[in-house]
Amino acid sequence: MIVLGIESSCDETAAAIVNDKKQILGQSLATSLEEHKIYGGVVPEIAARCHLDHIDEVIEDALKKANLRPQDIDAVAATSGPGLIGGVVIGVMAAKALALALNKPFIAVNHLEGHALVTRLGSDVEYPYLLLLVSGGHCQILIVKGVGDYTRLGTTIDDAAGEAFDKVSKMLGLGYPGGPIIEKMAELGDASRFVLPRPLYNSGDLNLSFSGLKTAVRKIIESYAEDGNIEHAIMRKRDIADICAGFQTAVADCLLHKLEKAVVLFKAEYPDAKDLVVAGGVAANNYLRGRMQELAEKSGLEFSAPPLKFCTDNGVMIAWAGLERLQKGLTDNLDFKPRPRWPLDELAPAAPGAGGVKA
Ligand code: KG4
Ligand code: ZN
Repeated sequence: MIVLGIESSCDETAAAIVNDKKQILGQSLATSLEEHKIYGGVVPEIAARCHLDHIDEVIEDALKKANLRPQDIDAVAATSGPGLIGGVVIGVMAAKALALALNKPFIAVNHLEGHALVTRLGSDVEYPYLLLLVSGGHCQILIVKGVGDYTRLGTTIDDAAGEAFDKVSKMLGLGYPGGPIIEKMAELGDASRFVLPRPLYNSGDLNLSFSGLKTAVRKIIESYAEDGNIEHAIMRKRDIADICAGFQTAVADCLLHKLEKAVVLFKAEYPDAKDLVVAGGVAANNYLRGRMQELAEKSGLEFSAPPLKFCTDNGVMIAWAGLERLQKGLTDNLDFKPRPRWPLDELAPAAPGAGGVKA
């Protein structure tokens, strides 16, 4: 079984081909990151134009690298939401056109399901597993019970974790995307120098919040500007590094505190389950990965994370989620409408022939 997957929900235009032996046969990725850098974040219109420019070439490139003809593919999957709708539509249209021309099934993949399942491609992670999904647009603690079958235990009530990294980086004048830059700076810093809040730490539920943390960082930066304008702040590299270290530690403390509670719930409900998984762009953060590894060891779970290049958006995760869906007989009609908002827990559980997707 061979599936082609297409990703175009943010600033990466990507295609990849995987098979049911967990092999990646070919992959290709073009990013419009450079075009967005001067704006400090992704500009949807620019992203959509770049997807149009690159969509054909990444699909052709993935096929070429796999040494396959289009007709060798068993199904075509594409991110069909959530995401920047201008980009999502381009990937979905390309996938539907290919599926129609080849007379093969089309599979509408939820982008978050791509992140959620990709770890299984390179590991023996089994359902059910406890997942921390942390990306630029989402921050959730979930139990993954199977394809299309998720229970959300907690979510952010304001910013996503990656969004907080990006905003703090912008305030410090460090650039976009913020996560990798802050992680590098944090390695040089003293996390204990600035006292930062841990929002919702004692809320009693498993929800998260990063907006207050971001405001606290802003106040510190303002104190370095004579006129209180962060753009005029004069900071030494040492100060910036200490803020980055303090911020990264605060984010991880919040995530780990709630995850620790989630582990207790998860183990009570699924005593035989063994896996703790992290996914999404922020999962590329080595400090967070280390903290989760410690939690897993302490809790008798096995920690798994995708390879770094499959944490941020890519075509492989969409091809793999498509393949898991195809294995369950879950395909979609060509009139499937792309969904800018599409919560994971609105995916129907995967019963063969059940359709699996609420349009
Ligand atoms: O999953 P992703 O590529 O796109 C979305 O679906 O949102 O995630 C991108 C996010 C960005 O906010 C970026 O700053 C963050 O992931 N990120 C990181 C790291 N690498 C990427 N955050 C923290 N540490 C990193 N090393
Ligand atoms: Zn993503």
